[in-house]
Amino acid sequence: MQEHTGARSFASGYLEVKNLYKTYYLPKRETGSIAVPTLEDISFTVKKGEFISIIGPSGCGKSTLFNLISGLEIPDKGQIILDGKEIIGQKGHVSYMLQKDLLLPWRTVLENCILGLELQNVPKREAINTANCLLADFNLSEFAGSYPASLSGGMRQRVAFLRTMLAGRELLLLDEPFGALDAYTKSEMHDWLAGIWPRISHPTVLFITHDVEEALLLSDNVYVLGPRPAKLKLQLSVSLQRPRTRKLVVEKGFIEMKRILMDSLFTLG
Ligand SMILES: Nc1ncnc2c1ncn2[C@@H]1O[C@H](COP(=O)(O)OP(=O)(O)OP(=O)(O)O)[C@@H](O)[C@H]1O
Ligand SMILES: [Mg+2]
Repeated sequence: MQEHTGARSFASGYLEVKNLYKTYYLPKRETGSIAVPTLEDISFTVKKGEFISIIGPSGCGKSTLFNLISGLEIPDKGQIILDGKEIIGQKGHVSYMLQKDLLLPWRTVLENCILGLELQNVPKREAINTANCLLADFNLSEFAGSYPASLSGGMRQRVAFLRTMLAGRELLLLDEPFGALDAYTKSEMHDWLAGIWPRISHPTVLFITHDVEEALLLSDNVYVLGPRPAKLKLQLSVSLQRPRTRKLVVEKGFIEMKRILMDSLFTLG
C-alpha cells in the first residue's frame, strides 16, 4: 500500500481495522456454493475526529466494510477495535447512514430526525429540543413540520444526515450520502458541510464516495480500495487548508492530489 502524508495531526488512534477478510457464498443451482471473496487483508487506523473518505470501484466491497464495522455482518478473519475494545458483531457503536436516505414518508422532518433518539428511549421533549438545535444548523428549521415528499433531494439528504448525527455515536459511517444528487446540489452540500463542520462538535467520519473531488474537499485522509477482493491500495493525507471551497479544485496542489488518486483508482492490481 502506498502512503502520502502531510496533513494536520490528530490525537491517538481511535478505530483500528486489522487484517480484515470477508468472503460471501452464493448458492449454486445444484449443490454447493460459489465463493465471492470481497475484502482481503484490510488494515488501517483512524484517529479521533478525522474525516476519512473511502473510494474504490463499484462492487469492490466498500459497503461490506461498513457492514462489518457497524456489526451488521461478521468478518471471516481480522479485528475491529474501537476505542480500545473489540467490536466485531456488536451493534450500537456507530451511527450509520445507508446508501439510500430511507426517510419514513409518514413522519415529518422533525419526527424523522428524532427516530434514533426515540429508539434509545430518550424522552420525546428532550429529543425534540436536541433536534431543534441541529435543525437550525442544517438550515431546516422552517421545514420541521414538512413531510419528506415535499423536500428537494438535497434537503432529504440533509435530514437523513442530521438523523444519523443525532443518533449520537462518536463514529459516523456515511455511505455515499451525496451520491444521488446533481452536481450543483452536491456542490452546495459540500459548501454547507465545510461551513458547519468547524462549528459543531463533530464525530469521527468514514465517508464512502465515488467522487474524487468530493473526497479531497471534505477529508483529512483518503483511502483507495482496489477491485474486488478489495485491498487498500493507497492512503493519501490531504494537506489542504480549511475551510475549503469549490475554488480549490483548479489550484495546483489540488490537481496534483487528484492525479495521485485517479492514477491509483485506474491502475489495475
Ligand atoms: N449479503 C451478501 N451476499 C452475497 N454477496 C454480497 C452480499 N453483500 C455484498 N455482496 C457482494 O459483495 C461484493 C461487494 O459488495 P458491496 O456492496 O460491498 O460493494 P460496494 O463497493 O459498496 O459497491 P457500490 O460502489 O456499487 O455500492 C459484490 O460482489 C456484492 O455482490
Ligand atoms: Mg456500496
